[in-house]
Amino acid sequence: MNKVKIPKNRLRKLKTFTLGQKPYELQGVNPKKVKNNFIDLCSNDYFGLSRDNDVIKASYEISLSEGLGSGSSRFITGSRPIHKLLETQLAEWLNQEKVLLFPSGFQANIAAVQGLANRNSIVIADKFIHNSLLVGVKAAGSKLVRFEHNDLKDLENKILKFNSSQKSILIIVESLYSMEGSIAPLKEIAGICKRYNVELLVDEAHAIGILGTEGKGLSFDLSDEITMLTGTFGKSFGSGGAFIACNSKIGEHLIQTSGAFRYTTALSPALSAGALKSLQKIKNNNEWGINLLMSSQKWKKEILRNLSYPVKGESQILSIIVGQEEKAILLQKHLEKNGFLAIAIRPPTVPVNESRIRLTIRRDLNLDILNNFISVLKTFK
Ligand SMILES: Cc1ncc(COP(=O)(O)O)c(C=O)c1O
Repeated sequence: MNKVKIPKNRLRKLKTFTLGQKPYELQGVNPKKVKNNFIDLCSNDYFGLSRDNDVIKASYEISLSEGLGSGSSRFITGSRPIHKLLETQLAEWLNQEKVLLFPSGFQANIAAVQGLANRNSIVIADKFIHNSLLVGVKAAGSKLVRFEHNDLKDLENKILKFNSSQKSILIIVESLYSMEGSIAPLKEIAGICKRYNVELLVDEAHAIGILGTEGKGLSFDLSDEITMLTGTFGKSFGSGGAFIACNSKIGEHLIQTSGAFRYTTALSPALSAGALKSLQKIKNNNEWGINLLMSSQKWKKEILRNLSYPVKGESQILSIIVGQEEKAILLQKHLEKNGFLAIAIRPPTVPVNESRIRLTIRRDLNLDILNNFISVLKTFK
């Protein structure tokens, strides 16, 4: 263990906020009522479903009958009717042949890459894909090639470079990038993949429930052209766990071969039932995603109008780019002092000199909260 050296500038503290000392509000309730609390502007609980009574009740009730945890892997006693129900309903909603549940999105992404690539593959991935996908590429033993973020020409050039190598090629993108808040030109990417006959894996973690037709993600209208997609329940679903959606043949291949699927304790009944209830709510409230995107545009416009820093993001994920790490931390502290939780994101998570405050806009953040936030921002020196 003594050999493990962490560079000083990489040291992170787990507890950045005063969480635990003060309560925090997830939803935009009357700011007067929450003056002693924080307003959460950084979790991915986009619809506030983690605090929804029906979702909590579904998790609680199933725990009473089935136990809190599943107790073992899907191949032993871990498979429960709730898993089948959630998998079937998700598959139907997404118009996919097969859905498989995983305990986390990190794990689902590793399984997804390992299912589609191996030592003889070349993975061509967007420069900003999530760490879990990179870990998946390592686990698969594939050669990794990056293309510039959302750059179609660069993607095509990289495919052309390796297309005659006799190796199989897998392209990996996110539909909505978690740090940039940028949206992939998925239709064009899928078109390129089809033209060169290469596989495409899309991580829909931040898009599912929000973007695309009825919140079904950006892959939905391209399902014939996309090999596999992954989504998580830890964000818009307000629960935990994740899933892979694909055709039956690849699904069966994963069931038979994926260590990340086979050798892990199955998703808990509680989280599965919570995710199923959230799915029903999202299905019954198609307007949530659209309204969230509209509200996010308003936040972006107001921040830009009142602050001299650039703001990135085309969705519910917005970033105030302040540049230097120290400045980003100062802004985080200033917001915290004034009742807002919004986290500073620094290198290596984002490029050097692009440190930022990442904001996630959630369903019930109202105008009062926006106005209050803007006045606090204006007082930042
Ligand atoms: C783009 C992306 N993919 C995958 C994950 C992992 O999902 P989970 O939190 O369910 O492990 C995350 C979560 O941070 C993410 O942002």
